[in-house]
Amino acid sequence: MTLYRRFLDGVPDYLARHYWWAYLWRWGIWFFDHQPVINLILFGQYRTLMRQTLARLQARPEPGWRCLQLTCVYGELTPRLLASLPQGMHLADVAAPQLELARRKCAGRGRLLPARMNAECLAYASDSFDAVIVFFLFHEMPAQARRHTYREIARILKPGGSLLVTEYAERPVSHPLYRFPPSRWLLAKLEPFLPGFQDECLPTLLDEAAATHGKRLSLKGTAATAFGGFYQVRTFRCELRDDKPSGS
Ligand SMILES: C[S@@+](CC[C@H](N)C(=O)[O-])C[C@H]1O[C@@H](n2cnc3c(N)ncnc32)[C@H](O)[C@@H]1O
Repeated sequence: MTLYRRFLDGVPDYLARHYWWAYLWRWGIWFFDHQPVINLILFGQYRTLMRQTLARLQARPEPGWRCLQLTCVYGELTPRLLASLPQGMHLADVAAPQLELARRKCAGRGRLLPARMNAECLAYASDSFDAVIVFFLFHEMPAQARRHTYREIARILKPGGSLLVTEYAERPVSHPLYRFPPSRWLLAKLEPFLPGFQDECLPTLLDEAAATHGKRLSLKGTAATAFGGFYQVRTFRCELRDDKPSGS
């Protein structure tokens, strides 16, 4: 039996096949959830990216203001987010061990509402969130799964709400890590869906996904960048499309 199949406990095939060692195997989870390790994976940029992400969240204290972190992340982001949201925060991930880890890290930090869900097919109602935060998820998904996830995000965001995406930037042709063939090769080996993601135009695809729900997802302001433009933090604003037929 191929080893990864042992981890196919209700998670998408790509996740078990390519990332069992990082997100599903208990020793992997223990290993990666150390700040120096996660920082190393992001070339020393974790705290910068976390700060940039937190700075963009224009949270409001009202109980009806709802925020979702779409998928767990290693490190301090989730407890920090939660601590800044008096009304609590939703967290969805398809991997039960990741949700369990987040629950433990967030104990005493606020009201965390974790749910085991596939980002491609969320069980949340349409128009139910004011903010959705996605930290380094898309580049780990195959193209089709990304498309489904973009559509789900557009569906669950309220018009007037915002999406924060912290991710690899588009193909960084002038960055030394990209220009140096061995490091480019290694990154693509460890992150098999990254080259496909870097070749996409995220703003265009998000807006196309939003159009299927009669909405628009447009870039708000300029992106914050880190590591010489290798990473980006972008805010997208969700609005109703002007051309949406009234009553629909
Ligand atoms: C956000 S990404 C990577 C984050 C980053 N490497 C870090 O930890 O800082 C990892 C998470 O995405 C989750 N995930 C991947 N595909 C998913 C899907 N289709 N639906 C829900 N969660 C998913 C994995 O279970 C994992 O917990």
